[in-house]
Amino acid sequence: MNAEPNPVHAVDSLGVVADAAARAGEALDLAARHLDPSLVDVLRIVGFDEEYVSAQGSYLFDVDGRAYLDFHTGEGFASLGHNHPDVREVLCATLAADLIDGVQIHYSPLAGMLAEALSERLPPGLDAVFFASTGAEAVDSAMKFARAATRRPRLISCDSSFHGVTLGPLSLVGDDFFKEGFGPLLPGCDRVPFGDLARLEAELRDKDVAAFIVEPIQGRMVTPAPADYLQSAQALCRHYGTLFVIDEIQTGLGRTGKWFALEHWGLEPDFVLVGKALSGGYMPVAAMVTRREIYDKAVGTLERCYVHQSTYGRNRLSMAAGLATLRIIERDSLLERAASVGTLLFDGLAALQQRYEMIKEVRGRGLMIGIELGAPKSRVARMNWRLIHMASEGLFPQLIVIPLHRDHGVITMAAGKNDVIKLLPPLTLSEAEAQTFLDAFDAVLADCHGAARKNWSVVRDIATATLTRRARAGFR
Ligand SMILES: Cc1ncc(COP(=O)(O)O)c(C=O)c1O
Repeated sequence: MNAEPNPVHAVDSLGVVADAAARAGEALDLAARHLDPSLVDVLRIVGFDEEYVSAQGSYLFDVDGRAYLDFHTGEGFASLGHNHPDVREVLCATLAADLIDGVQIHYSPLAGMLAEALSERLPPGLDAVFFASTGAEAVDSAMKFARAATRRPRLISCDSSFHGVTLGPLSLVGDDFFKEGFGPLLPGCDRVPFGDLARLEAELRDKDVAAFIVEPIQGRMVTPAPADYLQSAQALCRHYGTLFVIDEIQTGLGRTGKWFALEHWGLEPDFVLVGKALSGGYMPVAAMVTRREIYDKAVGTLERCYVHQSTYGRNRLSMAAGLATLRIIERDSLLERAASVGTLLFDGLAALQQRYEMIKEVRGRGLMIGIELGAPKSRVARMNWRLIHMASEGLFPQLIVIPLHRDHGVITMAAGKNDVIKLLPPLTLSEAEAQTFLDAFDAVLADCHGAARKNWSVVRDIATATLTRRARAGFR
């Protein structure tokens, strides 16, 4: 796909699209007034406050027509690239067919077809599907179904995990930072260190745990499960009658070079959770896939068949987007592409690691890549490093993220309160685009490895301003 903004602007008789285009310059002010002013502040501080006006394939375009290579894709939402024309075609055709939607007494073939298509790509027996609109809702569904099917109260997750921010999934999330102020959360939710089988077994031994829920590669810092951990965790779960839930909301649908990351370890879980990429980059859709006997134990009676529902869960456009996504991944061999372009990126990053001390580790699989930064060695740079960490635990990666965006038009993301830069480029990424990223990364690292360079001063200024603001707040 070429890096050209789409010049065609559709119009509607109500003027919605035209109004949005006319008010594009007000987008951040509107957001600051009515949505989330703190997030707008952050975008302005790190210079991500461009007036983006369109998106196509691997690129966003700003009002001046400058292209930005998107290595984040809304955390994997636009895994097919932005505004994929074939997904749009399917969505338009689905709308034009005037199908029935939102009527709970009706099942469209689209929903059954998508459930069937997901099942066919999963290990045998995973053939009962509940569709939701968000990943958190899919996680929440698995929490409920596991409790109801086992009649056990407890749920175990891992430290550093992420499963969503509604109250159910939040009770599983590994970092307390996300939870502050929102408690009390669900009772019966406990965590074990990711990779620690002894601690997991200690929790399972009393046979009161309904489910163990785990990401095969933790998304927060792109941490792959240690060798044999997932197979052994699955065996422990089977032994103690705990259901084994794999959260593939980020890793699923080609991200790691397979349909599902669980294939790397030959897992046969009791639940698989899917989201993000299923959207085709257009529609809110997620799925909980489980075994028929589990589904039926939870809600499989005539009296209880409607106790777990979601108004938008299997709406036609979401179902059509999901089906289009699976077909495009298959037709365009995107699993193979994710694996091969991923290898190109890993090899390129390994070569950069040889040259730059600040790359501590590169990890992940396929096109899910985490680059962990380490402390620089020179005295001045180390002092800056300390100051930046005092200001905020998640600020240091901005040393790379800001100039990548500002000087090279490459969008990446700092992974949270840590020193990891996270790459989730589209599965459609070309070899040339991968090389563009590597060249830009090389140039930014070259600058950062001199302590007096401009990249340091930008982040140091943010750190100083943060510390000053904090001190002032403390005095008030
Ligand atoms: C592994 C994982 N599970 C669940 C979620 C929650 O998904 P959503 O934001 O669609 O609720 C996310 C979102 O980042 C995720 O990465």
